[in-house]
Amino acid sequence: MLAYRHAFHAGNHADVLKHIVLVALLRHLNHKEKGWRCVDTHAGAGGYSLKSGYAHQGREHASGIGRLWPLRGDPSLPPLLADYLALVEQFNGSPTLGQYPGSPALARLLQREQDQLRLYELHPTDHKILASYLGSVPGAEVKMADGYASLKAVLPPPTRRGLTLIDPPYELKTDYAKTLAALREALTRFADGIVLIWIPQLALLEAAQLPQRLKASAQGHAKKGWLHARLTVQGTTDARGYGLLGSSVFVANPPHTLAAALRKLMPLLAAELGQDSAAGWVVEEG
Ligand SMILES: C[S@@+](CC[C@H](N)C(=O)[O-])C[C@H]1O[C@@H](n2cnc3c(N)ncnc32)[C@H](O)[C@@H]1O
Repeated sequence: MLAYRHAFHAGNHADVLKHIVLVALLRHLNHKEKGWRCVDTHAGAGGYSLKSGYAHQGREHASGIGRLWPLRGDPSLPPLLADYLALVEQFNGSPTLGQYPGSPALARLLQREQDQLRLYELHPTDHKILASYLGSVPGAEVKMADGYASLKAVLPPPTRRGLTLIDPPYELKTDYAKTLAALREALTRFADGIVLIWIPQLALLEAAQLPQRLKASAQGHAKKGWLHARLTVQGTTDARGYGLLGSSVFVANPPHTLAAALRKLMPLLAAELGQDSAAGWVVEEG
């Protein structure tokens, strides 16, 4: 039985970074009429209440979306942040932050008639919630299946336009090797498809090595190169060496405008979401 429940972490600094980039990538795909397919290999429950249950207990959102929420409407906000906050507000349907959209909900908000969602979630409870939320949406398929193994069935999309999000819990160390293999498989099947991978920043060798391995794998295989953006929020782990220091996103085949847009955004994210003097950011491309 899987132990990880994303509700504990919904809306934390890592979700903020991942979801800002997810929104930017889907907006980019929406610049053209031709439909896209968004494959979410580890979809979670789809959306989360912040007022009850696990998210309310853990309150990780307070040091993530909670710190950014008051900035809504500021005309000087970097466009990527303004767009993300507007979508979170749209999901809430009110100016009160009571719910947080997961990656499937954000993709659903940006999905047009011609676009497809392919959502995989192994946890029976989260799968049930996701299926009841999006299972009957036209163009969407929700499956209780292994997201890594599902790539061969859904890539390349018939329109050859698409985004694959690989966002595992990394509770098992095998997720690091599986993520690397999934990037290779996605690029072998669809060399110019966009792939977005979330990576935890931990005091753990596998986590530290993953960005380098992904870059090496994308080099020469991703037709439009790669981008890696890291947001560090703190410099110390707990006494046992656990704790998220920050996180990063790796994008294969990014839009050419994304790095510049992120360089405008990351100083603000580091200032608002940083928890100690180690807070900082990196954006690199290849
Ligand atoms: C980090 S959460 C996903 C969060 C979601 N992508 C979002 O941004 O809102 C990871 C999810 O993957 C699920 N999971 C773990 N292993 C999986 C696998 N092999 N295939 C599909 N889902 C899996 C977990 O149950 C968990 O809900």
